Amino acid sequence: MRRLGRERSRRLIVCRWARRAIFDNAAYNSIMAFKHRSVVDSIPAYKQGKSAPKGANRRAFKLSSNENPYPPLPSVQKAIKDHALDCINRYPDMGGWKVVERLAKDYGVDSENVVLGCGSTEVITQLVNLLAGPGDEVVYPWRSFEAYPIIVSGSGAASVQISNRLDGGHDFDAMIAAINDKTRLIIVNNPNNPTSVSVRDDEARRLMEAVPSDVIVLFDEAYVHFNTDPETSVAMRLYREYPNIVIAHTFSKAYGLAGLRIGFGIGPSEVIADMRKLSLPFGVTQSAQIAALASLEADAELQERVQALIEERDRIVTALDAQGWQFPRPYANFFWLPLGAKTADAAARFTDEGLSVRVFEGEGIRISIGEVEANTKVIETCKKVKDDGIV
Ligand SMILES: Cc1ncc(COP(=O)(O)O)c(C=O)c1O
Repeated sequence: MRRLGRERSRRLIVCRWARRAIFDNAAYNSIMAFKHRSVVDSIPAYKQGKSAPKGANRRAFKLSSNENPYPPLPSVQKAIKDHALDCINRYPDMGGWKVVERLAKDYGVDSENVVLGCGSTEVITQLVNLLAGPGDEVVYPWRSFEAYPIIVSGSGAASVQISNRLDGGHDFDAMIAAINDKTRLIIVNNPNNPTSVSVRDDEARRLMEAVPSDVIVLFDEAYVHFNTDPETSVAMRLYREYPNIVIAHTFSKAYGLAGLRIGFGIGPSEVIADMRKLSLPFGVTQSAQIAALASLEADAELQERVQALIEERDRIVTALDAQGWQFPRPYANFFWLPLGAKTADAAARFTDEGLSVRVFEGEGIRISIGEVEANTKVIETCKKVKDDGIV
């Protein structure tokens, strides 16, 4: 007994030493040189959307990350409260099979065609790491989702960024012209982040006809639930016609589970099996799986919330049209103001009004559809930007 007690207090002392050891961190950090892949030095760090601006005696809103302003549905909160706490001492089901089976049923595919990831960001990472490496190329529109260049550089492959058309849509002619023997993946982002422009069905089909059948095309449809464009391409429809399509969807946007990190990919079984090998082991937590299943059960209520956000988007578009703004029709839960050189001046106004928006220096501002009060403030701020002659 006494020996056990001594052993325990020795362990405690070691732990405390490790925590309290005093040494010169600044000196330690400044001398650390290490052998590594030089490609990482050129990877831009991901910039997270800013929080709502602090200060001033007014309500502030975060409209910088295309999040859902609504809290999870009561049934989803209940499922998390009732079931998620019991299992956090255990690893999650690594394949997330219950969610996979449910998604397979909903989408009319087999379980072998579905893979989960910690958000669709991880799904896209699995796919890029499977397909591309040093010497290979990945073609995608630009500007688009900020994670694409990070993921592609991380794989060692080269990004071939195709500038968007002036209307903010993908330039499919240029994307097709960029395909060569080194091309391993082509990414389509519908609707595109940050321009919110939808990809038309005929454009997507033209691309699919031009791509060799052994080159995969990824349709990243993170915002698909908000896409009301009657002419839009629907990746699930194309999936049934072409053998080389992978689709990435997420629970982060319409389902409002961004903080839990769960997304999924649908694709040919051979591709999905290899993506699963490259997935982060145990990356999708049990809480995320529980919330995703509960969300799929509550689809009708979630659709109501999506509809409310679409109506808010329409309200903003109507107001901005009346104010004389020129901007692309938005089909996601955000819209894009192509402000070019005026971007910084306009952005300052939004911050002054307590609105954090996503600023792309010299290009434009992306604004998420938020709470009704936030959207009203956005409309008012846009009017001020116009009235003050900034645009
Ligand atoms: C176009 C696009 N794809 C994918 C994602 C990834 O979302 P998540 O990793 O939260 O599923 C985002 C997130 O903002 C996005 O804008």
